[in-house]
Amino acid sequence: MTTEPKLSAGAATPRWQADPILSVERLTMRFGGLVAVGDVSFDVGRGDITALIGPNGAGKTTVFNCVTGFYKPTEGRIVMRHGAGRQDETVRQLTDSGLRWKKEGDSGVFLLERMPDYEIASKARVARTFQNIRLFGGMTVLENLLVAQHNPLVVASGFTFGGILGLPSYRKSEREAIDKAVYWLERTQLVDRADDPAADLPYGAQRRLEIARAMCTDPHLLCLDEPAAGLNPRESADLNALLKFIRDEHKTSVLLIEHDMGVVMEISDHIIVLDYGVKISDGDAESVKTDPKVIAAYLGVEEEEDIDVPEVLEDVVETIGEVAVGSLQPDAKGENRGGDK
Ligand SMILES: Nc1ncnc2c1ncn2[C@@H]1O[C@H](COP(=O)(O)OP(=O)(O)OP(=O)(O)O)[C@@H](O)[C@H]1O
Ligand SMILES: [Mg+2]
Repeated sequence: MTTEPKLSAGAATPRWQADPILSVERLTMRFGGLVAVGDVSFDVGRGDITALIGPNGAGKTTVFNCVTGFYKPTEGRIVMRHGAGRQDETVRQLTDSGLRWKKEGDSGVFLLERMPDYEIASKARVARTFQNIRLFGGMTVLENLLVAQHNPLVVASGFTFGGILGLPSYRKSEREAIDKAVYWLERTQLVDRADDPAADLPYGAQRRLEIARAMCTDPHLLCLDEPAAGLNPRESADLNALLKFIRDEHKTSVLLIEHDMGVVMEISDHIIVLDYGVKISDGDAESVKTDPKVIAAYLGVEEEEDIDVPEVLEDVVETIGEVAVGSLQPDAKGENRGGDK
């Protein structure tokens, strides 16, 4: 099934079509007889915040696991690009060559379905956080951020113990690693907790630490699996600000799985909706939040049934938040109270 991207009236060609940092093409992931993701295609714009949403079990985390190399897709191509444009010719040549990636200066094309997870992180520069937080709980907050920068430090040591003790290049890299860690601790309001074990942090702070750790690897694409889950409204607002900062100041593209429609609708440039492993909607926030298929998916209405929009407004408020209703109901204030699951 193909669902063409939708745009609100008058919108220009979107960045995700002209300059996609990531293209997921006809991705299928089967677990035995279960099709967790079936023939899903979408683009992620360079410099955009892109949200992947959908009801529980829709296949969102499975897509992330394929993109980040935790699963080998059953079928499909996943193209990551450094440098501007679609680079169609390079993508075609690389696909035919059987090689995993091609890099020239600042440009590069990476076929992620062919690459192991450590190469996806270190070469294609895709970083991720997890739906269930995965930190080194016994290490301090600062140590968690230094471990993330382990590779450049090992290279700077000349791969020798003596290098670690004495090489100026190692000391310089170590200083840079600490500076970067402190920078992200400041951005995530964790400086005061730098020497505390990560496991002692409150839940919201652990979520921020995961993002800081991912940013310490200087990713081109940051993939976040439900970063707002379990956050209070204040923390959720801080998260919005942090993600906008990452996009606007660091020019890092963000791919976000999120159930909190307050977060999604406020910060996303582009939204893709999955349901039962297939894509049912794709477009900007304006077009997706008024898409009857999306409303039906969240309310559990059969696709063939006619949806009486006024009658389901109350349910939509509860399920996907007042932001969605604001666009259907002209006199609604459109205040965001979130719509967490
Ligand atoms: N390793 C696996 N083995 C078998 N089935 C799996 C595996 N991983 C995921 N699935 C199944 O694939 C489907 C999609 O799961 P996935 O975790 O991708 O959904 P999701 O959209 O992330 O849901 P949620 O919002 O609850 O996190 C589900 O039916 C799930 O049970
Ligand atoms: Mg999930």
